Amino acid sequence: MAGMRAITVPQPGGPEALTWAEVPDPVPGEGEVLVEVVATAVNRADLLQRQGFYDPPPGASPYPGLECSGRIVALGAGVSGWGVGDEVCALLAGGGYAERVAVPVGQLLPVPKGVSLEEAAALPEVTATVWSNLFMVAHLRPTETVLLHGGASGIGTMAIQLAKAVGARVLVTAGSAEKLARCAELGADVGINYREQDFAEAVREATGGAGVDVVLDIMGAKYLERNVASLALNGRLVVIGLQGGVKAELNLGALLAKRAAVVATSLRGRPLAEKAAIVAGVREHVWPLIEGGVVRPVVHQVLPLAEAGAGHRLLESGAQVGKVVLRV
Ligand SMILES: NC(=O)c1ccc[n+]([C@@H]2O[C@H](COP(=O)([O-])OP(=O)(O)OC[C@H]3O[C@@H](n4cnc5c(N)ncnc54)[C@H](OP(=O)(O)O)[C@@H]3O)[C@@H](O)[C@H]2O)c1
Repeated sequence: MAGMRAITVPQPGGPEALTWAEVPDPVPGEGEVLVEVVATAVNRADLLQRQGFYDPPPGASPYPGLECSGRIVALGAGVSGWGVGDEVCALLAGGGYAERVAVPVGQLLPVPKGVSLEEAAALPEVTATVWSNLFMVAHLRPTETVLLHGGASGIGTMAIQLAKAVGARVLVTAGSAEKLARCAELGADVGINYREQDFAEAVREATGGAGVDVVLDIMGAKYLERNVASLALNGRLVVIGLQGGVKAELNLGALLAKRAAVVATSLRGRPLAEKAAIVAGVREHVWPLIEGGVVRPVVHQVLPLAEAGAGHRLLESGAQVGKVVLRV
């Protein structure tokens, strides 16, 4: 049997649980291509999967890795529009931490012009998450104001750029002056250091009491009450991360008075057709902005894939701004 190497998790645990091992080659099924991976990137979800708290969805590769870049080396049955040798990046349900991965064609994107294959590995997860939540779910408009929590995160650095590209006013939170300075360089209009000031109070000041039209939240329970308080009339709170817990009390009266909405979404477990629709939207709306130089991948550091544990330690330290890429 042909084989490849991948980062496996024989026993859930700390970063040392990640083990570079020989495993069987994936076989592309119908409507899939086989990609020889050049690079992948670390996502928060990978840390949870490594700890045993986030199993891959049914049918997905058991190895971590929600995105990759590389070259197509084989086509499964019924694939058209892509060829062997094409340079691509891809949104994955798993398996990016490997030398090869099978990818449904609906999750493939061409490497944008002007972006290296290594940088391209940092794009699929953040572009798909930000595009789907800020625009397909929250319908952020050019005249509106958005609050982005974790402005210096992988997600935050892309969200700042895309929200500015459509003309919205952008408020961000981060835990240090250095991170807020990086957010300002990317275009953020207002930076809030949540360690020094209550963010809801800062939002009130920055918006003259009106609040923001959209909040993109990664903290969940801990921020729910203040996020709702920060919404303007007809505001939309989109929760995509639960770093501050899952259960909190929701004041429906506050929502009702503002005619506001709370939505929570995740990307990984969605059906293929939904992922394909998101990826198509990214290709149509986000790729031209990247190729035009308006939006750029933000890569904090590139590490060898065999040292994936160091990448996980870096994300756990919270020191990074943007994405950590792992090169095969
Ligand atoms: N639902 C989905 O489909 C989906 C998809 C992708 C990612 N996500 C979620 O999005 C979040 C960001 O992901 P990522 O991969 O970009 O992770 P990341 O780069 O590791 O970012 C995590 C961020 O959390 C920030 N943070 C920690 N405590 C905070 C607090 N009290 N207030 C505000 N920010 C705080 C950290 O910045 P500071 O140093 O500034 O605190 C850090 O920038 C994660 O929660 C992830 O699970 C969800």
